[in-house]
Amino acid sequence: MTRSVYYAAFGAPDTLTVGDVEPMPMGPDCVRVAVAGAGINPVDYKIGLGYLAGAIETFFPLVTGWDVAGTVTEAGPAVHALTVGDRVYGYARMDVVKHGTAAEQVVLPDRLLAPAPESVDLVTAAAVPLTGLTALQLVQRMEIVPGEVVLVHNAAGGVGQFAVQLARLAGARVIGTASVRNHDHLRALGVEPVEYGEALVEQVGELAPEGVDVVLDLVGGGALDQSDGLLADAGRVGSIADGAGALARGGAYVFVRPSSAGLAELAGLIDAGQLSVDVAGTYPLDQAVAAYERLQEGHVRGKLVLVP
Ligand SMILES: NC(=O)c1ccc[n+]([C@@H]2O[C@H](COP(=O)([O-])OP(=O)(O)OC[C@H]3O[C@@H](n4cnc5c(N)ncnc54)[C@H](OP(=O)(O)O)[C@@H]3O)[C@@H](O)[C@H]2O)c1
Repeated sequence: MTRSVYYAAFGAPDTLTVGDVEPMPMGPDCVRVAVAGAGINPVDYKIGLGYLAGAIETFFPLVTGWDVAGTVTEAGPAVHALTVGDRVYGYARMDVVKHGTAAEQVVLPDRLLAPAPESVDLVTAAAVPLTGLTALQLVQRMEIVPGEVVLVHNAAGGVGQFAVQLARLAGARVIGTASVRNHDHLRALGVEPVEYGEALVEQVGELAPEGVDVVLDLVGGGALDQSDGLLADAGRVGSIADGAGALARGGAYVFVRPSSAGLAELAGLIDAGQLSVDVAGTYPLDQAVAAYERLQEGHVRGKLVLVP
């Protein structure tokens, strides 16, 4: 058994319980990881609320969390790329939802993991996988080329912090939406900030009178509607939060997939000093409810991490 944050049934974050849960059995291709940090994401509480019940099979008790960083303490007999003592990180989404990462230890197939970046501590590494991979897969999917103008809706959140940096690394000029208190932070990342809300269309129109080439929608709601008149000819849209809206516009919907190759790429960028990671706060497992309630308010800059 391992101390874990879990749902006994569907419910809001305040129904999360902290207690002992049996980890997944050690398969031959699995490793056991002593968890140093488990980043939290909106999808965790959305699963609790049952929003994904029609899409992913769910079993209780359900240990929450898909992000992890820690140290390998045991390796199955078929594991060859990882060994006891390795620092690893991973986006641990499996085909069913039951064994999450918000626990003192977790057993995972090695294919979900990669060596953690060496230049940051494991708590910071735990803030990267899900949102970093989402940003990487979306930016790559949009085939951004140098000189393009990219508008990022929700530039300062968990996914946004990585999306703006990866779009800049692709050579784009990036305009990002966030509330004013996050504008200096975005400027430091080389982003031209604008406020979201009614004034957005006018502000972006002034910054990019010829139109934007790419819209990355990381918030949903009316973001794509607001973007329609801002797109340049042959402009394209991608979303992680409004699949129907993106597809209706001939754009791309990205649902992040686990990828150890993608994690290795992100670790390389972090270690090269090209990608920074913003951890807004850490919480012990006992305070997971407070962490998720803060996340659910929707105004965290960067990431929150549970630390066992
Ligand atoms: N399809 C996928 O694979 C995938 C993967 C990851 C996430 N998602 C989804 O994508 C969304 C974003 O995820 P996330 O982890 O980045 O969320 P998050 O970190 O919780 O987002 C928080 C940020 O949203 C900003 N924000 C709130 N309302 C906004 C608005 N109307 N316009 C622009 N920014 C706004 C807040 O900025 P202020 O504090 O400045 O208000 C805050 O910085 C969520 O719905 C999540 O479930 C989907």
